[in-house]
Amino acid sequence: MGKLRSVIAGVGGYLPERIMTNAEIATMVDTSDEWIQERTGIRQRHIAAPGERTSDLAVKAAERALAAAGMRGADLDLIVLATATPDNTFPATATQVQAALGMHQGAAFDVQAVCAGFIYALSVADNMIKGGQARSALVIGAETFSRILDWTDRGTCVLFGDGAGAIVLKAEEGGGNGHDRGILSTHLHSDGRYYDMLYVDGGPSTTGTVGHLRMAGREVFRHAVVDLAAVVAEALSANSCSPDDIDWVVPHQANKRIIEGMSRKLTLPADRIVVTIDRHANTSAASVPLALAEAVADGRIAPGMLVLLEAMGGGFTWGAALVRM
Ligand code: UT7
Repeated sequence: MGKLRSVIAGVGGYLPERIMTNAEIATMVDTSDEWIQERTGIRQRHIAAPGERTSDLAVKAAERALAAAGMRGADLDLIVLATATPDNTFPATATQVQAALGMHQGAAFDVQAVCAGFIYALSVADNMIKGGQARSALVIGAETFSRILDWTDRGTCVLFGDGAGAIVLKAEEGGGNGHDRGILSTHLHSDGRYYDMLYVDGGPSTTGTVGHLRMAGREVFRHAVVDLAAVVAEALSANSCSPDDIDWVVPHQANKRIIEGMSRKLTLPADRIVVTIDRHANTSAASVPLALAEAVADGRIAPGMLVLLEAMGGGFTWGAALVRM
């Protein structure tokens, strides 16, 4: 038997119906459309309906990814779901998705690395496939950050939105040279010393409440540009690639100035970066798979292309993945 690789068989995204514009937020806190657009690039975000849970968004994205792969839930043997806004403290939101998809076999669990969560989940699923523990996996990033925002704090409430993105991975045997399709490598990092730069001030074992997101925005910004540039350089170097080899970069969508700063550092051309922040805002673990789904659906990203994924979030956590579509 040859070496196992994980190949992307389908991608899908889902955004809740309701759109909240910057103008609407400006009626709630002291901010303006101009400030938000200029400092972040965000024009609007989607907000989950009352009663619409993270698992509901995840199921819709998963159904689209499965349809693109020509598969059903019953064909899967693994779900890894990245979220920092689970339906409940337990059980894992992934098991809710598993039940809704009619998948009664295999394993489903959550991964928590906030905005870097999708890269973490992808790495876990990829390694389980490479190790022979799964043949087909659904990797999901899904969030309802609107539920943990302090809607009186203009420094954070303008930045985030709700959504979900999913990909289906399938095991394939093959050579393992850089031109094979599949996940070529994943690179994960965290540094817990920065816990209080970006955290939620609640939780079952601290306050017994859900809590609200708190962030030292300027510090997070500074670390994001440096850490993302470093992990992208690491992913390129591990695969003996240069920025010129990359067809598309699908970055975490936290702030358009972070994306620009990172791409300048690495001399990545702006016209090969997928940007959704203007319409989605920061959807945390959902941002990378949502952006990937959009670029696959509109034909920008096509089979055979070399795609770089990166993200950074609370913890701090950060990571990158290089993928041949
Ligand atoms: O997914 C990873 C997690 N998050 C991130 O990556 C976000 C990282 N950080 C950022 O994107 C930026 O730091 C922010 C967008 C959060 C803030 O932008 P900034 O350019 O770093 O602004 P600042 O925090 O330095 O604030 C500048 C001014 C302050 O006023 P003073 O003290 O200069 O009078 C803020 O009070 O802007 C003020 N400000 C606002 N004004 C209007 C902060 N938020 C707002 C707002 N509307 N929404």
